[in-house]
Amino acid sequence: MYKGLIDRYREYLPVTDKTPVISIHEGNTPLIRAPRLAAWISPKIDLYLKYEGLNPTGSFKDRGMCMAISKAMEEGVKTVMCASTGNTSASAAAYSARAGLECHVLIPGGKIALGKLAQALVHGAKVLAVEGNFDEALKLVRDITSRYPIALVNSLNPYRIQGQKTASFEIIDDLGNSPDFHALPVGNAGNITAYWMGFKEYHKKGKCSALPKMLGFQAAGSAPIVEGHPVKHPETIATAIRIGNPASWQSALAARDESGGIIDKVTDEQILEAYRMVTRLEGVFAEPASVAPIAGLKLLGESGYFTKPSVVTVTLTGHGLKDPQTAVNQSSAQPKVVSANIESVLQALNMQ
Ligand code: F0G
Repeated sequence: MYKGLIDRYREYLPVTDKTPVISIHEGNTPLIRAPRLAAWISPKIDLYLKYEGLNPTGSFKDRGMCMAISKAMEEGVKTVMCASTGNTSASAAAYSARAGLECHVLIPGGKIALGKLAQALVHGAKVLAVEGNFDEALKLVRDITSRYPIALVNSLNPYRIQGQKTASFEIIDDLGNSPDFHALPVGNAGNITAYWMGFKEYHKKGKCSALPKMLGFQAAGSAPIVEGHPVKHPETIATAIRIGNPASWQSALAARDESGGIIDKVTDEQILEAYRMVTRLEGVFAEPASVAPIAGLKLLGESGYFTKPSVVTVTLTGHGLKDPQTAVNQSSAQPKVVSANIESVLQALNMQ
């Protein structure tokens, strides 16, 4: 029986027999081949979607949170705290509930998707909506956790990165080798750091013969790494990555440069086009931030970046149901109301 990523990858993680394992069986997400989407992007690529929306709370954050909460329990902490654009808070709330810990969450007021807010509330976290953005909320959390015996569970917590690196292991375990390119969205830049760490560790162990080039994508209105300076008022429809001053900026640059990859930006329009294409061409539903790398791959495909046949993997970081409002707004047709008889239904379907 699959029992979560600490059980599966224990030898690669900083845990001991004394670490209480707090798991909701995160990880083990599918790597889904996406030939129709690949054809839309470039004839050169063989594309696979790492569908992280299928984690217990619907995002990749569960990998890191399983480690962060297990280690907080080992250290005897009673309360954890995070700033979040939504997914981290959903995950922190769920894992804290399972561990019996108090969970405090600061979110940027009015700027997180409905599903994520619902999750944090339903799992019993204390949720404060800050009149400010994610960067300001994170600064407050760093301040408070440095003064009180409260564990910070943002990706500045090194155990978060340790947990998240296991997604790279799974990709290599599934493919039997590393991909040629790995694409993912970049917000606070913890995940690109974690993936690169995972790929390098597995390579060192001889599990793959090469390393992928890392392709990171930010939203154009929130692209500090691409612009080369912090963005004071980040904006994007992809609220999960609405971040102007990423905590792991330097390690994101290292992942890009060591791998020979790129970090680029995509507009909200390009994100929304990718959002429609993934859902319509592959039947896979991911939230707007998650499809930023699909939009980015499309731009690279058009520019002739892929010059030879390449295996490309992309992390779909969060489930589409997290953000039902964007989903409904993006659908061209709303349900038409019909009478409960066969004539009305056939007429509405133009079958009469
Ligand atoms: N995709 C989704 C769906 C996210 O929720 C996040 C980050 C990212 C991508 C970017 O990952 O920060 O490691 O570069 N969400 C954080 C949160 C900030 O609070 O949920 P990153």
